[in-house]
Amino acid sequence: MTQTASFSHEPVLRDEIVRLLVPETPRPGLRAVDLTLGLGGHAEALLDALPADATLLGVDRDERALAIAGRRLARFGERVRLLHGRFGSIGDLLAEAGLDRVDLVVADLGVSSMQLDDASRGFGFRASADLDMRMDASRGETAADLLAGADEAEIADWLHEYGEERDARRIARAIVRGERPRTTDELRARVAGAVRHRPAHRDPATLTFQALRIAVNRELDELDALLAALPAMLDRGGRVAILAYHSLEDRRVKHAFRAFATACTCPPELPVCRCGGVARAKLLVRGAIKPSDEEIARNPRARSARLRALEWL
Ligand SMILES: C[S@@+](CC[C@H](N)C(=O)[O-])C[C@H]1O[C@@H](n2cnc3c(N)ncnc32)[C@H](O)[C@@H]1O
Repeated sequence: MTQTASFSHEPVLRDEIVRLLVPETPRPGLRAVDLTLGLGGHAEALLDALPADATLLGVDRDERALAIAGRRLARFGERVRLLHGRFGSIGDLLAEAGLDRVDLVVADLGVSSMQLDDASRGFGFRASADLDMRMDASRGETAADLLAGADEAEIADWLHEYGEERDARRIARAIVRGERPRTTDELRARVAGAVRHRPAHRDPATLTFQALRIAVNRELDELDALLAALPAMLDRGGRVAILAYHSLEDRRVKHAFRAFATACTCPPELPVCRCGGVARAKLLVRGAIKPSDEEIARNPRARSARLRALEWL
């Protein structure tokens, strides 16, 4: 993908995110954080919508994404600071940036178009490549390493839990039979030979690749750590928007947001509240926002997106 093509790529639910996050009267010196900077599309839209004294910290675990986003956001000068890191360690990243609490947080979970479209990174099964799948190519085990070091039960658990793959056990058995796969082709062929259920509209390897990617990048642990860190990082009136692309993530966001926004935590059988709990946040969206049919037609990868947002009280 060329730089120009990346820049013109429309970030998912961009206008809705700006509408939900940018207050009518932003406080002076507002501090924003984009936890998944990617190609900088959401960050750019937020910076354009915020007053000139607002700043943005952009975080990504992929150094290549940071480099591209840095060029895209260069026109905002000192208003932008970029940090390489994982949002699961957001407390450390904020401390490194000299920030205590922030006013605005956006997270657009999962992999970027750039990562998916770069065949050499091994996220997809359509091109032949080493089975890598690390969003941060500078550290950690690749998907091939992970498969080489795991036993059949562990692999089946990943496929079942992270891919909701109905043929998890059969695929795991095929993976551990003989040499472990080290390329996307080899893995795809093992899956194709093992599956009983062949969905009409997707490659049989889709869920296996999704599950492995989640395992390699510990995506659900990262999200859990972020959701647990939110109360300590948001200032009063601070707003958060999270975009999830599959139900495993969206369910976590939904439950965490509901818990923040629930006052009473007494068991439902109690006739009156005894806990005296107060809600810590207000939901800005009932349920989740989904992309319109027009957006999905322009950008099919937006299809499964679910946006949830809240305001800290
Ligand atoms: C869907 S893309 C974000 C696209 C971005 N909103 C835009 O407008 O271009 C997700 C990005 O989040 C990054 N990412 C995923 N998990 C992360 C984590 N735990 N910590 C930091 N970055 C992460 C990926 O490397 C990827 O660049």
